[in-house]
Amino acid sequence: MSIMRRRQFLSQVAATGALVAASSKDSGAQVKTGASNRARVIADPARTVASLDRRLFGSFVEHIGRCIYGGIYEPGSKLAGPEGFRKDVLEEVRRLGVPIIRYPGGNFVSGYNWVDGVGPQRDRPRVLNRASNSLESNQFGTNEFITWCRAVGAEPLLAVNLGTGTPEKAADLVEYCNVESGTRWSDLRRQHGVEKPYNVKYWCLGNEMDGPWQLGHIPAKEYGLKAREAALQMRTVDPSIRLVVCGSSEVGMPTYLEWDRQTLEECYDDVDAISLHHYFGNGPETGGDSSKFLAANLMMDRQIDEIIAVCDMVRGRKRRKKQLWLSFDEWNVWYRRNTEADMNGQGKEAPHLVEEVYNLEDALVVGGLIISLLRHCDRVRLACLAQLVNDIAPLVTNPDGLLRQTIYYPYAWVLKYGRGNVLNLAVESESYEVPEIGRVPYIDVAGIFEPESGSTTLLILNRDIVNARELEIVWRESAPARAGECQVMTGPDLKAFNGFDTPNRVIPQTVEAPKAGARMTFQLPAHSYTMAYLQGK
Ligand code: AHR
Repeated sequence: MSIMRRRQFLSQVAATGALVAASSKDSGAQVKTGASNRARVIADPARTVASLDRRLFGSFVEHIGRCIYGGIYEPGSKLAGPEGFRKDVLEEVRRLGVPIIRYPGGNFVSGYNWVDGVGPQRDRPRVLNRASNSLESNQFGTNEFITWCRAVGAEPLLAVNLGTGTPEKAADLVEYCNVESGTRWSDLRRQHGVEKPYNVKYWCLGNEMDGPWQLGHIPAKEYGLKAREAALQMRTVDPSIRLVVCGSSEVGMPTYLEWDRQTLEECYDDVDAISLHHYFGNGPETGGDSSKFLAANLMMDRQIDEIIAVCDMVRGRKRRKKQLWLSFDEWNVWYRRNTEADMNGQGKEAPHLVEEVYNLEDALVVGGLIISLLRHCDRVRLACLAQLVNDIAPLVTNPDGLLRQTIYYPYAWVLKYGRGNVLNLAVESESYEVPEIGRVPYIDVAGIFEPESGSTTLLILNRDIVNARELEIVWRESAPARAGECQVMTGPDLKAFNGFDTPNRVIPQTVEAPKAGARMTFQLPAHSYTMAYLQGK
């Protein structure tokens, strides 16, 4: 079963009533039931969740649609540089400072023979990309990807094929990438013109192996054993690598959590992390109700907590000291362009697939999801906004240029300001009821404190669709000396989006920050996402 049947599979599951209901989660916020449009946060730079690993703000590029071909690589284009990389995309990603990028899939990896994508380009086979029924020219492969990563300043996160592929082939790729010389695969890399090893550190052991749509899908126990074998062989080649095993691909899967438990029972000792995926939507899941949709990140909170619970349960049963971390290596909003037809390339090369157009409310949700990742940064150390260009992406290309979709902005803010320690904030907010979730605080906040400069960045979501709200920040110990940049995303129309003809319809507006001091009050417009950079000195 291919990716084209993913949605179909999940809607069948939902129809049989097995879909896990959306959830309540401890967002860290204390909910107030009284009528007050003023929320309060107590911030203490000494109370932190953890110090941030920037890999939390990673992204993902897959051989799907126009993500690679026509997105990051387009040799015939007037915008391409000598290596065939689109200069506009390369520059934008470099400026953004994306720390780590996952490749080559996604579903694609489960049918990928990495050997097809290396060596002289003229000799590479044209094959059928069976994950999205498209034509794959193999003109872009591992070496092109790592060259591009270096040009944009990102670290590669490589996935190996544990669908149709074998542990042996996975270890061969580690040898090709990370061994200096003197072995079959490292010498092949040198023959291909790359003398020095890449030393790729982070590796995914397949993709969404719990999904019946995945090429080579097998039951959890078998996958756990296959992942273990792959881990052993890959680590024999390079003991320093870090390995992410596939966890559940959806909270709606009938095997949700059980898949994770059974897999980990087999390979806990051999991996470092487990993956989570989640795409959020304002379709059938919310009945199109935007106030429910804006609570999406509370479902992410709950998913993270549940996967942590499974990891720690297996750890307890095995009496192990080692604690796994989580890799949320696919997350985004995605619900419009995800029908069978949207994922079927009809045998074409670089077809238009899953090109979701993002609006203002999607950007607010993405902002909320970033808040959730931040408040779990003690256990979620790596995450990837899926994807980066053209397919469910913040950036979109056409033959003449590049467009920033609405979701680009919250992502760009955290990339720019996300350094230091995430604060463990005490938030008090009035709340509203979402039946599948429970009480949802109107205000959600994350804070990042940079010890060296003493500066703090606040990211604030106002979920109230109708009313502006106030947020008072009470600083314990040290308060900011000066308010720096303060920007907000909001607007009269939650459904407004950017297009090549109207690229600036939904963009951040600079607003006046409140006067710095031990107590600061922010005015938050209705349905808004605010970024405030407060200087310490
Ligand atoms: O990101 C698009 C697809 O969604 C990926 O290929 C797959 O892993 C997920 O189901």
